[in-house]
Amino acid sequence: MKRSIIITGGAGFIGSHVVRLFVNKYPEYQIICLDKLTYAGNLANLKDLEGKPNYKFEKVDICDFDAVLSLMKLEKVDGIIHLAAESHVDRSIKDPFTFAKTNVLGTLSLLQAARLCWEPVGYEGKRFYHISTDEVYGALEMTRPDGVNPPFTTKASSGSHHLAYGEEFFTEDMKYQPHSPYSAAKASSDHFVRAFHDTYGLPTVVTNCSNNYGPYQFPEKLIPLFVNNIRLRKPLPVYGKGENVRDWLYVEDHARAIDLIFHEGKAGETYNIGGFNEWKNIDVIKLLIRTTDRLLGRPEGADDDLITYVTDRAGHDLRYAIDSRKLQSELGWEPSLQFEEGIEKTVRWYLDNQDWLDGVTSGDYQKYYDEMYRNR
Ligand code: NAD
Ligand code: DAU
Repeated sequence: MKRSIIITGGAGFIGSHVVRLFVNKYPEYQIICLDKLTYAGNLANLKDLEGKPNYKFEKVDICDFDAVLSLMKLEKVDGIIHLAAESHVDRSIKDPFTFAKTNVLGTLSLLQAARLCWEPVGYEGKRFYHISTDEVYGALEMTRPDGVNPPFTTKASSGSHHLAYGEEFFTEDMKYQPHSPYSAAKASSDHFVRAFHDTYGLPTVVTNCSNNYGPYQFPEKLIPLFVNNIRLRKPLPVYGKGENVRDWLYVEDHARAIDLIFHEGKAGETYNIGGFNEWKNIDVIKLLIRTTDRLLGRPEGADDDLITYVTDRAGHDLRYAIDSRKLQSELGWEPSLQFEEGIEKTVRWYLDNQDWLDGVTSGDYQKYYDEMYRNR
């Protein structure tokens, strides 16, 4: 079936993987990557798609309601996959207003544009898919600080480290308890999406995913920042004691889940996405040092002394752990990659793409748009 789909935030980390998957898998779809190109948007992430007949880039701010509405009308859009957001917790602590504007008002602008375009012609065949985060549920207790065997296993958690740090997991019906300005803004946007479904019948679907890792992640987030610092022998700033727990998922497994849910998820539903793959930060960091040093041919332990404990993040959530059984049982999704293998693949990618890392850290990547699109 021919479809015209806007993917917002497609020049960012997860968005670029979703755009690539859709452009390559569905040549019959028109894929429009809509992105404002903030500091986090990088067209180098999509270089391989330039020139593909079913791919188009549009530099648009989701908060610009008129621009969004006219693009939707012009392109006869029947699907929106919404990833555009301010996504970094530390930035939200410094600048909460930008997070409220982009994540809440930007989402509202897309919802209203979708409703105005689709309501008059009927919602049949239309879909508004909102990508959210597990952080909206708040933080879980760490009742098992030494770790126990988790009740569920997936391919992601099938390696030597197979632990859960508490009995409770985030489920879809859990109450929202966001702690950071980032997660508060994402929680608010989730509420607006649900409200548009319940009030106007907009065919929405919401997913809440755990921490992603993989190629093209902006090196302000733990994994790419630390790989870059190990490579350059710079200090690794570990917040607090490094005891906080995150549940890691390879980004392409998230993109596959998005593809499945966009096509087969039930309107009005929420699905959690995660691989039952809990790790304490300090254990991830030690794995990153071991893997990076091995791939760089440095002796084992050569960079252990880069670990530097620093002041904790304000309001630092202790433990995230997603229960994704609904998605697994209802739609048959499974993670495809075990974590240590995924980390090796990821570290190798950053080391093989040091020009990408250098381009981002120097700010050069922000010139790509002008070079590629200014004169078109
Ligand atoms: P990112 O920061 O790498 O990318 C965000 C993208 O959105 C960038 O390309 C940026 O230019 C664009 N953008 C920002 N403001 C915009 C605006 N006003 N108009 C248009 N585009 C704008 O983020 P990410 O890590 O890829 O996350 C993508 C989405 O997934 C976010 O909604 C985030 O909340 C969610 N999420 C992320 C993770 C994770 O681990 N990274 C996990 C779960 C959910
Ligand atoms: O859970 C999903 C969320 O995961 C997404 O919604 C967010 O967009 C994404 O940024 C991520 O949030 P986190 O805050 O968990 O990710 P971050 O990479 O910033 O940090 C991971 C953990 O590492 C967290 O406990 C804080 C810690 N950390 C992070 C940085 C950048 C450090 O100890 N030192 C650091 O320098």
